[in-house]
Amino acid sequence: MIVVTADSPQTPSTVPRTRLIHVGLGGWGGDWERNAIPPVTEVDRVAIVDAHEPTLRAAQEALDLPDEVCFTSLTEAARAVEAEGVIVTAPMTFHVPVAMEAFDAGLHVLVEKPFAGTVAEARTAVERAEELGLVLQVSQNYRFYPGAQKARELIAAGAVGDLSVVHVDFRRWDHDAPVETYRHYQFPHPLIYDMAIHHFDLLRMTTGREAVSVYAKVTDPPWSKYTEEASAVLVVELEGGLVASYRGSWVSRAPQTFWDGEWTFDGQDGYLTLTGRGDGPADDEVRLGLKGEVATPVELPALDLWGRSAGLRQFARAIRGGAAPDVTGRSNLGSIALMEAAAKSAETGKVEPVEQIGGTVA
Ligand SMILES: NC(=O)c1ccc[n+]([C@@H]2O[C@H](COP(=O)([O-])OP(=O)(O)OC[C@H]3O[C@@H](n4cnc5c(N)ncnc54)[C@H](O)[C@@H]3O)[C@@H](O)[C@H]2O)c1
Repeated sequence: MIVVTADSPQTPSTVPRTRLIHVGLGGWGGDWERNAIPPVTEVDRVAIVDAHEPTLRAAQEALDLPDEVCFTSLTEAARAVEAEGVIVTAPMTFHVPVAMEAFDAGLHVLVEKPFAGTVAEARTAVERAEELGLVLQVSQNYRFYPGAQKARELIAAGAVGDLSVVHVDFRRWDHDAPVETYRHYQFPHPLIYDMAIHHFDLLRMTTGREAVSVYAKVTDPPWSKYTEEASAVLVVELEGGLVASYRGSWVSRAPQTFWDGEWTFDGQDGYLTLTGRGDGPADDEVRLGLKGEVATPVELPALDLWGRSAGLRQFARAIRGGAAPDVTGRSNLGSIALMEAAAKSAETGKVEPVEQIGGTVA
């Protein structure tokens, strides 16, 4: 049983709060304001920015903010208010441009997933942040849930022995809106970039291995309203010859999974199952079965903050000179490399190599 305490007040701190500008107040940015930022007592969101004036004004009204802290450009906001960092929840194509704008203003950056569409683009931001000594963090929020953390710990401790294979299934039905009004249907790579990036990142996190190649076969039915792939079957080869199968779908009528999907880690001595990233950490579940026995639930760690809030607290602490966050721009490049190669494979129909970044898997 996990106690959900994300909204519980933390001990008041004497350390001044880290002052942050929030860029991109659309659907998910609004959710950050309501649910992800408030539990983090170490930060103060001092200004909001949205390039779309009506969206900015709607957010201003919802948050009851004065005109002096609402802007249509980050550069303008950075000139007008004192801040140390930026949370970027604009769409992917703006992540690196907005990060570069932030670096020019001397600000640290926490950016939503997917960090960028290509390794080459992501690398420009990584290198600039490193040159300037600024924090660049990617919000891979699925990592900050107790199930994923426990699975990583058990696999690293050899609880199931050497892994023989990993299977991942993600199933959602997201197909009821009229085609003209629902932007998700027009997303670039709605499965691979928008969703599977989370699973690719968890695959690296839980196995501690980088992907080396990927084959992706799009499985969309003729009636799919999506312009690009909404469903696919992938085979990912990881370091050491470990193979992962991945079946993901936005158009599945089969029983719906939580956002993590359903994982099986099969090993020499037993197997682990993982699911999670539901409404809160209490939905997470990890089961362990040894030597042919039925798997039983494993006790999961209680987290005082979880998901985006846990990452945001790491960001504030890193800005204050604390430890680097779990997911830096650099350590996220391996996830972007797998995502990019998977999209390429879906187009070419061939097994594609995954660019090797070097360094240790985070
Ligand atoms: N981690 C998760 O679970 C999760 C869930 C949903 C969305 N996301 C991510 O959040 C990001 C935003 O998604 P969304 O659904 O809110 O998108 P959205 O299109 O609803 O909102 C994005 C907002 O950013 C604004 N914007 C665009 N460019 C800008 C710029 N240069 N400066 C200032 N504002 C700018 C737009 O006007 C818009 O209001 C995406 O990267 C998406 O992948 C993550």
